[in-house]
Amino acid sequence: MRVPLGFSVLEASWRFNIAHACVCGGRGRCSTCRIRIVGDRGGLPEPSPREIAVLERAGYGEDEAVRLACQLRPKADVVVVPLLPPNADASHAVGNRHPHTGEERYVVSMFVDMRGSTKMAEGRMPFDTVFIINRFIGAVSQAVIEAGGEPNQFLGDGILALFGLETKPGTASRQALRAASLIAANVERLNQQFGEELSEPIRFGIGIHGGEVIVGDIGYREHVVFTALGDAVNVTARLQEMTKALDCEVVFSDEVRKAAGLPSDAMPTVEVPIRGRVEPLIVRTARTAAVLATPVESVATAAPLL
Ligand code: FES
Repeated sequence: MRVPLGFSVLEASWRFNIAHACVCGGRGRCSTCRIRIVGDRGGLPEPSPREIAVLERAGYGEDEAVRLACQLRPKADVVVVPLLPPNADASHAVGNRHPHTGEERYVVSMFVDMRGSTKMAEGRMPFDTVFIINRFIGAVSQAVIEAGGEPNQFLGDGILALFGLETKPGTASRQALRAASLIAANVERLNQQFGEELSEPIRFGIGIHGGEVIVGDIGYREHVVFTALGDAVNVTARLQEMTKALDCEVVFSDEVRKAAGLPSDAMPTVEVPIRGRVEPLIVRTARTAAVLATPVESVATAAPLL
């Protein structure tokens, strides 16, 4: 197969419709895409600390010929053999950190939605559309992980991320707001990379809210996902939708603002009706997600994250 420089081995498989196990969707978490390099591997990029950690957990720490197909971006010809069958499921994955039967806890949830993906698909090869959406999802997921959260569910071109599965509400709120500013930076970088290939830049909307929810494994047989259920998550989805009407990139609840320790004049306030609630919800808006970087940074410096 001949692919553009910069593709991962997994993306090469996708491009040529070669079935390749990838339980985590190419996010470098499950190890199911692992491959063995056949022959010379001298010219390959070194694995990142993250790739090394996942391979170690999968039991390949000592075997330098085994790599993650989703992380390896070869710069020269390479011969590989996938180590798992294409239908390998979550039982083969490492990092199943939350085998939960159900518990109630405070979680800050974040919905991120890519704008205009349907329009973008017009006149484009399906592969190109999927490639761009995957790059967007990658950019968002990377920001979420860097801030300390977990990408949790992928809903077409949208993502649900969770913060606070192992931290307190204040930390989780700051992490979520920081993730929003990192998403802005990552998407800006993507827009620069794609340049004129896009008729207009990739845009997005983000909703953030916190509350007591039920977290647990939901699904059937091998189609089980760990996720959060509850009113707070539904409200977060609504806040994300409101970014369109409020003409901004981020809408977050005042509760998140307070928990994060941001000053009361940090961002414009709006009262919005929420279905099923008598009282309107006080929310804050950020016209661009990038503007959140400075206030979040200042509170983190004043009172460092635990
Ligand atoms: S697809 Fe999960 S680690 Fe590569």
